[in-house]
Amino acid sequence: MPTISNKGIAMPQSPIRKLVPYAEDAKKRGTKVFHLNIGQPDIKTPKVALDAIKNNDIEVLAYSRSEGSEEYRTKIAAYYAKNDIHVSATDIIVTTGGSEALLFTFGSIMDAGDEVIIPEPFYANYNGFSTASGVKVVPVISKMEDNFALPPIEEFEKLISPKTKAILICNPGNPTGYLYSKEEIQKLAAIVKKHDLFLIADEVYREFAYDGLTHYSVMQEAGLEENAIVIDSVSKRYSMCGARIGCIVSKNKDFMATALKFAQARLSPPTYAQIASEAALETPQSYFDDVIEEYVERRNTLVSELQRIDGVRVANPKGAFYCIAELPVESADDFAQWLLEKFDLNGKTIMVAPAAGFYSTPGIGLNQVRIAYVLNKEDLITAVTILKEALKVYNA
Ligand SMILES: Cc1ncc(COP(=O)(O)O)c(C=O)c1O
Repeated sequence: MPTISNKGIAMPQSPIRKLVPYAEDAKKRGTKVFHLNIGQPDIKTPKVALDAIKNNDIEVLAYSRSEGSEEYRTKIAAYYAKNDIHVSATDIIVTTGGSEALLFTFGSIMDAGDEVIIPEPFYANYNGFSTASGVKVVPVISKMEDNFALPPIEEFEKLISPKTKAILICNPGNPTGYLYSKEEIQKLAAIVKKHDLFLIADEVYREFAYDGLTHYSVMQEAGLEENAIVIDSVSKRYSMCGARIGCIVSKNKDFMATALKFAQARLSPPTYAQIASEAALETPQSYFDDVIEEYVERRNTLVSELQRIDGVRVANPKGAFYCIAELPVESADDFAQWLLEKFDLNGKTIMVAPAAGFYSTPGIGLNQVRIAYVLNKEDLITAVTILKEALKVYNA
């Protein structure tokens, strides 16, 4: 019998997707399932992006350059300039989603056994990318009572070992919704410079910053040119998750030359999707203004509705479109499965992502769930009503 690799066996299941079979069964029984578990926005993709595909008369769907088309990268650089991030096309490699950008980054800077420090809870697939690269995740706990702010910098310092190669942050955070301040980024900048580490910032939710706060990128921090790596994506910005386009941005020439070798091995990012993503850069500001206004209303609705349920605690997200909620249950895993298998309110139920999979320290976050507020307000109110009634029945 041929055998599977140890790495393959160690690959974690996605906590966001592992309950999918139960949701499918619930749907087959005729139950409507509200998906609060996954960051698939219901917002329309900008028309300019879709039109660029429709109105195309390409006759040969050829490979593009491994680092992405020059024209597209030049326009991405102009987009960054508008965000006060000053880079050139050569500082950018276009990838197949932010996911591939993360894989290439891990592959380029870390060997098997090396360590990356990540504030937890963190985007669960960081575990998957680390396992695939043989890299060890060293978590530093951020707390709900602090709204998941950056843990004290001494906590990072304690964890730095000869094997540490990088600190990875997600800003604004999935699953926490926390937006790091300029001061927090500067604390991280000082520590990575002191210890010669990379600072990888996953900024795929850059535009999703609320309450008048502005996003501060690691690329804006002077003196961090050799350390900073940004992971980016069109998935959330333009509601183009299926395009599969992202990029790596860094001024570190050795790192970029190495990442390019990974990019060359997979030949090219998808051609059609680059055309759509290039056109998406023409999206008018009014699109983003409307989207942000909509998400702020959704967040306010979700947080205030959740706060009205006895025993539920919720952090107040300042960005992205997720929040972590603590529920009056022992196992959010069990509760989430039960919601799909055993519960409905007038033929409707909800799917949430148990939060334990967003931590790598065993035993924490067991009573927490991540909720994505990617539904319209009425559906969100219905979903929270279902949660409230379900908790009564589950805990009876
Ligand atoms: C924080 C974060 N990083 C990266 C990704 C990967 O996105 P994609 O590969 O669609 O660009 C996601 C997707 O949900 C995410 O939430």
